[in-house]
Amino acid sequence: MTITSEGTGTSGPQLKRLPDAYYDSFLSDLAKERRPSPIRSLMPLERTPGLISLLAGKPNASTFPFSSLSFNARSPTHPDEESTLTIDGAELEQGLQYGDTAGLKSLLDWIQGLQELNHGRKKDEGWRISIGSGSQDLIYKAVHAMVNPGEPVLVESPVYAGVIPMFHSLHCEQIEVETDAQGIRSSSLRIILEQWPAGKPKPKVLYTVPYGCNPTGMTATLQRRKEVLQLAREHNFIILEDDPYFYLYYGKAPRYPSYFALELEEPEVGHVLRFDSLSKVLSAGIRIGFASGPEALLKAIDQHTATSNLQTSSLTQAVVSKLLHSWGYDGFTAHIERISSFYAEKRDIFEHAMKKYLTGLAEWSTPEAGMFFWFKLLLTDDPEADGGDSQVVIRTKAFEKGVLALPGTVFLPNGRQTPYVRASFSLATEEEVDKAIQRLRDAILEARAENV
Ligand SMILES: Cc1ncc(COP(=O)(O)O)c(C=O)c1O
Repeated sequence: MTITSEGTGTSGPQLKRLPDAYYDSFLSDLAKERRPSPIRSLMPLERTPGLISLLAGKPNASTFPFSSLSFNARSPTHPDEESTLTIDGAELEQGLQYGDTAGLKSLLDWIQGLQELNHGRKKDEGWRISIGSGSQDLIYKAVHAMVNPGEPVLVESPVYAGVIPMFHSLHCEQIEVETDAQGIRSSSLRIILEQWPAGKPKPKVLYTVPYGCNPTGMTATLQRRKEVLQLAREHNFIILEDDPYFYLYYGKAPRYPSYFALELEEPEVGHVLRFDSLSKVLSAGIRIGFASGPEALLKAIDQHTATSNLQTSSLTQAVVSKLLHSWGYDGFTAHIERISSFYAEKRDIFEHAMKKYLTGLAEWSTPEAGMFFWFKLLLTDDPEADGGDSQVVIRTKAFEKGVLALPGTVFLPNGRQTPYVRASFSLATEEEVDKAIQRLRDAILEARAENV
């Protein structure tokens, strides 16, 4: 393996990165078949000074009815105060027009700065960003860019239910890596990889949610992250770091670095493809997420976009860009601090009710990020019995009593039974939480009575 070096552009040591050719064996046949869009690949050239472009079939913006767009936004530091932001002129024209596949330049630049601030990754160091219609869009495209039908993939287990169908429809063997209160169990991953059958191609990707995991609520510790990164290098796989709850961290200790940041401590960078989402931070309906990672993988994602939805909506990108530029990084940080405290308070309210009603009837670990409690129903006192299944308790008994949650089985790639349940604490009020957990208690008691 040849490693290329690039100057960091600062006085720091040379940063080593994996060369583009390294990713050849990581691209799926589908990605290799895709050709650059003849029009979209030339669109950036339209910005050449003095050039008259007859290239794209862009409609003439003067025919569009929109003449300006204004919206009110709360101040990130003084949420009682609002200001009006207006998008017009050239900004509006861009927002109403087709744009670059990877995203609107002003938003890409802002996000680039954000990644530098939060992950220490500098521009032109062998990585870049693409914007997608939510991180889900980019994860889907990344999976199809890298995984061939039938190939094995590594997924933490339980896993975000939104990726199971992606791997399922590709007929992948989903190899489950155990997790616990400290996040993904690197020791379980090591065993899987070290006992991998000789001659069978190893998985190319590991999917994990390191902060406030959906569904377990757990945050991977620094040690676990370092071990996983080391394994990625030893066994040649790419970590799909899906981190939509990164900004919803409310633990007391300083936050752990992301995989994307931590790989700067590795002998070379290039094993991490990171997904961020603005859904939990600005708006879920606005559908903006971004992928950060090696150019070769981002290029494959962009080629998918260029043949599917062409690009993420220019208008929503323009709105988000306007807001974020007006806030600056300090404003964004203040906003994040405020919303993470909001979720910490929600977590406390929920846990208070769980202690009140579910002590002895359920077990859980306390999340330090995100919006989920993952708890095990104690459906019997018999220590010899298996844990049982939360499915009937949740889908039938709890629902009949007026509470809706998710049985853990939906987060297991092979859909086996489990006594675990996922509950989201983001929306319910204190009163509603109290009622919901009381109803859950009644459902568990009923199930236990039947199990006697
Ligand atoms: C772990 C995880 N990944 C991805 C997503 C999708 O996020 P987005 O709204 O950015 O598409 C979610 C949404 O709940 C999620 O929990």
